[in-house]
Amino acid sequence: MQAKVDGDACTGCEMCTQTCPEVFEMDGDKSAVIGSSVPEDAEETCKQAAEECPVEAISVS
Ligand code: F3S
Repeated sequence: MQAKVDGDACTGCEMCTQTCPEVFEMDGDKSAVIGSSVPEDAEETCKQAAEECPVEAISVS
């Protein structure tokens, strides 16, 4: 599974970095994805973070 953050849409609310710190970290005032793919044991929280992002900046595939 892969995750992507739309840097133009992200408002830096940091919700994703709290919900799924295995995958998301703050890079300045935007969220960035750690690594090239989502670790298997973080898939559920990663999907949850995508659903919870208030501006729907996170896409998973
Ligand atoms: Fe940005 Fe959404 Fe995360 S606004 S910091 S991608 S929860």
